[in-house]
Amino acid sequence: MKALTVVPLKAGSAELSEVAEPPETDGPVLVETLAVGICGTDLEILSGAYGWAPPGSERLVLGHESLGRVLEAPAGGPVAAGDLVVGIVRRPDPVPCANCAVLEWDFCRNGQYTERGIKEHDGYLSERYRITPDFVVKVDASLGTLGVLLEPTSVVAKAWEEVDRVGGRAHWNPKTALITGAGPIGLLAALLGVQRGLDVHVIDQMASGVKPDLVHDLGATYHSGKVADSCPSPDVIIECTGVASLVFDAMSHVGTGGVVCLTGVSSGGHVIDVDEGALNRSMVLENVGVVGSVNANRRHYEAAAAALAKADRGWLGRLVNRRVPLADWQQALTRQPDDVKVIIEVNPE
Ligand code: BGC
Repeated sequence: MKALTVVPLKAGSAELSEVAEPPETDGPVLVETLAVGICGTDLEILSGAYGWAPPGSERLVLGHESLGRVLEAPAGGPVAAGDLVVGIVRRPDPVPCANCAVLEWDFCRNGQYTERGIKEHDGYLSERYRITPDFVVKVDASLGTLGVLLEPTSVVAKAWEEVDRVGGRAHWNPKTALITGAGPIGLLAALLGVQRGLDVHVIDQMASGVKPDLVHDLGATYHSGKVADSCPSPDVIIECTGVASLVFDAMSHVGTGGVVCLTGVSSGGHVIDVDEGALNRSMVLENVGVVGSVNANRRHYEAAAAALAKADRGWLGRLVNRRVPLADWQQALTRQPDDVKVIIEVNPE
């Protein structure tokens, strides 16, 4: 079968390879891949900056934002042939650490977790894959291809859960949220904020185009410019860019008793001028909570599946703005100005 593979840490090594059928050791559920979303992590892997091949192998099959249709599954299990499913990305470490032992692999403590399509475990960008029933999540059939948004939505479902848990250390009744970045993660974070009944604001660089329109059509407010000139003192900020200056702007701009959740992975090497004393002073005197958030466990995938099931299909459809056939995979990896979420269609239905 065909698979998009890469030699991790080697820029320009991506190719459409002919690989063996998925190994039975990956699990008894056989899935036909329909589509795979491309995100910043994939581009980082493709640029040679991130990623690990499976032990004993030179190449890694890419793809962690998946959507597939079950071809075979054990009788009486949670999924059956014909179901539309998404594969969970991370697998618990083998030790396991205290968190992986209770299936909170997203909080793995020893770093020995694996991630499909990213770290030591082949991904989903192949014509078929195998998986164990406990690592597939069923998607509302009416979503069709839009189910490919489940994995990025699981990442923001976890971020919102962290916000609530940190906020819940005291009386917590948030009213306003600011999202920095109107990429897929920022827009999905905004969607979940609106679903929670919050007054949601999104800030990004673009002054016009599809991103402001998507924010507006969600019933949220779009800003371009400086964090300080957007919504005043929000209760929640979800930072979705990883841009160092925005991270610090978020920490100094959040309201008293507010929570900042950081979801963007920075590349490092960007030194900025910050008045750490003033920042520390305001964070302490205003009980500001700052929390990092990565990955998602099964609970977050299920919350994400529920959020997508009740989202407007037309709005989600505009998020997936480019669909590229597997044969033309290179086109999916080059960002175009109005791109939000680009997907590769592996076996279009
Ligand atoms: C994925 C996460 C993963 C993270 C770090 C993100 O793009 O969505 O599942 O944990 O990269 O590898």
